[in-house]
Amino acid sequence: MKLFIASDHAGFQLKSELIKKMHEYSDKGNNSEIELVDLGTNSDESCDYPIFAKKLVENLLNASEKDRGILICGTGIGMSIATNRHSQIRAALCFNEEMAIMSRKHNNANVLVLGARIIDFDVALQCIRAFLKTDFEGGRHARRLALIDECAKQC
Ligand code: RB5
Repeated sequence: MKLFIASDHAGFQLKSELIKKMHEYSDKGNNSEIELVDLGTNSDESCDYPIFAKKLVENLLNASEKDRGILICGTGIGMSIATNRHSQIRAALCFNEEMAIMSRKHNNANVLVLGARIIDFDVALQCIRAFLKTDFEGGRHARRLALIDECAKQC
């Protein structure tokens, strides 16, 4: 699985810490099936979150179905709004592990969004672990996801 990750300046520090932790984890022989791809930003210099949301979306749309993304900004709100403009993207802003689990089980989320100014490092890690290991339940939830596109077309 490819795991794309991007942030703006407000999410840069959390992104860097998470990447470091994930590399340490994979250096110990874990998560060997995950290829982490950092799409920036690369410093805490002020930048515009839609640019990084776009980068991640472009990569995800050219990747395989099973690949996923993580986006981080200050609150997670801007990244969520920008990313969910695309019909094949299901971006879920999560504040705790339970939300991350449900975002997969019920919403088949393919992008996890985190607010660096809202949650701390340990909770962010819990969200990522849950997001990566939880499967979509399908069934009535698949029908509801298909309905989102139908309803959007009718507006
Ligand atoms: C940047 O200050 C901040 O507005 C951005 O990171 C994000 O929270 C937007 O929704």
